[in-house]
Amino acid sequence: MDPHETVSVSLGERSYEIAIVSGELPAFAAWLTATITRRGMKMAVRPAVLIVTDGHVVHHHAAAVGASLHLAGYHCEVAVLPPGEQTKSLADASALYDRLVEMHADRQTLVVAVGGGVVGDLAGFVAATYARGLAFVQVPTTLLAQVDSSVGGKVGINHPQGKNLIGAFHQPLGVYLDTSALDTLPLRDYRSGLAEVVKYGMILDEPFFTFLEASVAGINQRSAAVLRQIVARSCRLKADVVERDEFERSGLRAVLNYGHTFAHACEALSGYGELLHGEAVAIGMVYAARLAHRLGRIDESIVSRQTNLLSALGLPTGLREGSKLTPADMLDRMRLDKKTLGGRLRFVLPTKIGHVELVSDVPEADVRAVLDEFAKQ
Ligand SMILES: NC(=O)c1ccc[n+]([C@@H]2O[C@H](COP(=O)([O-])OP(=O)(O)OC[C@H]3O[C@@H](n4cnc5c(N)ncnc54)[C@H](O)[C@@H]3O)[C@@H](O)[C@H]2O)c1
Ligand SMILES: [Zn+2]
Repeated sequence: MDPHETVSVSLGERSYEIAIVSGELPAFAAWLTATITRRGMKMAVRPAVLIVTDGHVVHHHAAAVGASLHLAGYHCEVAVLPPGEQTKSLADASALYDRLVEMHADRQTLVVAVGGGVVGDLAGFVAATYARGLAFVQVPTTLLAQVDSSVGGKVGINHPQGKNLIGAFHQPLGVYLDTSALDTLPLRDYRSGLAEVVKYGMILDEPFFTFLEASVAGINQRSAAVLRQIVARSCRLKADVVERDEFERSGLRAVLNYGHTFAHACEALSGYGELLHGEAVAIGMVYAARLAHRLGRIDESIVSRQTNLLSALGLPTGLREGSKLTPADMLDRMRLDKKTLGGRLRFVLPTKIGHVELVSDVPEADVRAVLDEFAKQ
């Protein structure tokens, strides 16, 4: 089976490929065997596999992956976790360690995550830490996981005091990305993933942004051909950044945080779960663009192009009427997030579509003015 598209992530000996297919989960085992062979892994040709998935994904997609492995002669077990962010916990990691112990897992054992970002982050963290590192494969089934969390090697779990506080960098052996998995994704989760796609266009790629504007109908219909293109381009753009700053040392990865300072404040204040992450990012990008406009960095036309695209994709571009988030609370929260000297805040701001800069001396008064404008709407 040849993937329709392949994105290569070049990280020296940790390099790997993202295969992008549609309707090909039954071919997973063939791809896995070819990947293990190509990587020249010191692994049994058919290692034992622990599939990690959640209750929403197991019947639709993890079962197809498991069936493909069984047919190809792999020994395969499945761990089904409760869906939701609360599963990214030490307790759930511990339960997975227990499963691996029961399986007599060793470095020949492979962990395969079939699910969204929660399953990928947790299973990846368990793979990174069990026996000092097991090989790991991602089969991402949400749009967010396909375009964001499965690229870059960040894995982790939450601590009661902080999201993603416990984690590691652990690159996968490969990523098998089937866009058809998105057919069963609830509309809100699908749209939420689109916010990160729009983000890539805004921060790195003007032609891609224009392509998104021209492809709204296909995107909203989840057309497989359009999805393969937008997922492949998003993975390529994120991989380009990760290749230059794999361990988040140079600050280059910061561009990926466009819209996220405002988003994190919205998410934290409205209570996690009220707003999906992508919804908060969409609102955050609108704030950031308005702030850039206020600071004279971009024209009004860029603010409206971004707002129009987000709306056309069904994403929110402002707070709900009656929202309890006040500008004062938002500002307090952002100060907590990114305090710098002299009451100046740091933001990733666009200079045009396809380019952003890290601006570290934004006066609070301007941030406040944009928040006030929003609150009046
Ligand atoms: N590692 C990274 O670099 C990185 C980047 C961004 C986000 N994240 C993490 O990703 C997580 C969010 O990921 P997410 O949005 O995928 O959430 P998620 O994994 O909770 O999935 C969202 C919902 O969709 C369900 N689901 C998944 N695939 C489905 C499918 N194909 N059909 C029907 N239902 C399906 C899930 O069961 C869940 O209810 C957060 O924990 C976040 O911290 C990690
Ligand atoms: Zn994000």
